[in-house]
Amino acid sequence: MEIPNLERRQVYLDPVRKIIENDIFLRWVREQLDLISDEGDTLRHTQRMTNCGYLLIRHLAREQKLSNDDIELFVETCLSHDLGKIEVDYKSLIKTSGKFSPEDFEIVKQHVEKGYDILKHCGRSDEVYNPVLIHHTFQPDPYPPLAIKRKKNMNERDKRNGRLLAMTDVFETCAFGRKFVEIRPLPLDKAPEAVWPARRRGDY
Ligand SMILES: [Fe+2]
Ligand SMILES: [Fe+2]
Repeated sequence: MEIPNLERRQVYLDPVRKIIENDIFLRWVREQLDLISDEGDTLRHTQRMTNCGYLLIRHLAREQKLSNDDIELFVETCLSHDLGKIEVDYKSLIKTSGKFSPEDFEIVKQHVEKGYDILKHCGRSDEVYNPVLIHHTFQPDPYPPLAIKRKKNMNERDKRNGRLLAMTDVFETCAFGRKFVEIRPLPLDKAPEAVWPARRRGDY
């Protein structure tokens, strides 16, 4: 007997769920993330992060006069930001060490370019795949080299969305922790403090 996955139906905020339901590609992304749900914390991380990203962009939309399209594209960017992890064999990495070794982490880093390639190949907007490409270039150890190089020539809109994406990613990670790297969750009210110093430096 197939048990309905009630939890999955409830995890996205209603407006986020509607955006996903209206787009066949986003439904495919959601299915792909569900398929790797037992291989790490990518699914939960992405679900929480997409909800956080929606709330953030909706808040900014008021003061920066962003359109509904801008909101929907940012939701797509959040939902797809770690999509490349569907091509990373988490099961074998975890089997060897239980935690990511530095060598494992080099393999995990490939998710950025893999995700960028999938999004571009599927004809998605550059407003989505450019921010995805640069989402790990705002941290103290930026990667991958291709993104660092390309970021210099990206337009301000894509750089800004890349910064927002990175900020949402860091916020979610600090607030909830990660399973396979040494990051302890902070109390939710402390998570913004981990983000703001980087914002003051102008990284976000
Ligand atoms: Fe990532
Ligand atoms: Fe992420």
